[in-house]
Amino acid sequence: MAGAIRVVLGALVVALAVYCAIDPFKQSSMADFPNFETYFMYQPDWSEVPSARDTEDKLQKAEIMFQNQIQGPESIAFDPLGRGPYTGIADGRVVFWNGSSIIDFAYTSPNRSELCDPKPSVFSYLKNEHICGRPLGLRFDKKTGDLYIADAYFGLLKVGPEGGIATTLATEAEGEQFKFTNDLDLDDDGNVYFTDSSTRFQRRNFIQQILSGEPTGRLLKYNPKKKETTVLLRDLYMPNGVSMSKDKSFVVFCEGPLGRLSRYWLKGEKTGTSEVFVVLPGFPDNVRTNDKGEFWVAIHFMRTKFSHFFSRHTSFRKIMLKLPIPAKYHYLALIGGRLHGAIVKYSPEGELLEILEDRQGKVVKVVSEVEEKDGKLWMGSVLMPFVAVY
Ligand SMILES: *[C@@H]1O[C@H](CO)[C@@H](O)[C@H](O)[C@H]1NC(C)=O
Ligand SMILES: *[C@@H]1O[C@H](CO)[C@@H](O)[C@H](O)[C@H]1NC(C)=O
Repeated sequence: MAGAIRVVLGALVVALAVYCAIDPFKQSSMADFPNFETYFMYQPDWSEVPSARDTEDKLQKAEIMFQNQIQGPESIAFDPLGRGPYTGIADGRVVFWNGSSIIDFAYTSPNRSELCDPKPSVFSYLKNEHICGRPLGLRFDKKTGDLYIADAYFGLLKVGPEGGIATTLATEAEGEQFKFTNDLDLDDDGNVYFTDSSTRFQRRNFIQQILSGEPTGRLLKYNPKKKETTVLLRDLYMPNGVSMSKDKSFVVFCEGPLGRLSRYWLKGEKTGTSEVFVVLPGFPDNVRTNDKGEFWVAIHFMRTKFSHFFSRHTSFRKIMLKLPIPAKYHYLALIGGRLHGAIVKYSPEGELLEILEDRQGKVVKVVSEVEEKDGKLWMGSVLMPFVAVY
């Protein structure tokens, strides 16, 4: 009897292994990436993770603006005259609040069509993002009033103060095409520091990228005089937000799946080198420097014991990803079951100054950027149909 059970169990294990190996019904979350690999993603010891939490859930007091007038506003920017906000949204437009209405400002795709018309949810735009564009990082050049845009599909672009169709500045560096341009900042000479989050996964597969953990992201520099793009750092784990320090001596960038900020030195004896700057309580999206030189970091989701385990155990992860479980469920397991809101502020030296949360995600969820202006915090979210203001 025991022998028969062993044979049946053995057969089941073999059948499951074969099923997972060939994924006949394309039900695994990585079905579109049959040769995917899983990579070790370094996570600090739990004791090194900052434990401060906002027990008052202060972000629940945020005001919701432009509800259902815009979808998925990732980055928030104000022009040199203080007008705005300007934000890039899920249908590919960069829009602008003129004080009474949301109006179109710019486009990154020269080829928009009815495919980009309004849709019920942010997810419905994913499949046409390469046609409609997906503007992520936005920054104004304070001297010229030009708006620089990192578009996930169209690379690095620029548009004048009047808006319209943006001009492409760069789509590749050192022979390799950008696959997922994400965020940018400018120095005083007009050089642009920006990130390409992956050379393999496009934005629409950002969940698959996080699950795989592949490190093919780059930190790049565009020199407007030479019209040349150089690679500053490569083999990064989904680098996303980028922001200059106030004194312009370094640029910080977020390494999403590692839950940290690193800095790349632009001045001084460490020029050209990078180091870990801050270990964050969660996994970051964008970072913005305020007038005092402090850094506001938008946390996509807070660390969980499971996210640490999942990041560190590549074989376990590979098996899980081959099972017929949709990516959405892996994502929910990673984020601890529900979308929530968290933002953190660091001093210019990298000390934690403030944490604001909505731990239940009642009002504010998955913040992708925090822009501080005149004592208010403007928060975008790549998944939500509004901007939150605290
Ligand atoms: C904003 O744009 C709307 C629509 O184009 C227009 O009717 C309105 O007058 C504008 N408001 C301001 C303050 O410019
Ligand atoms: C423009 O969009 C159409 C589909 O709407 C597509 O067939 C065509 O290849 C696109 N052209 C460019 C240059 O992207």
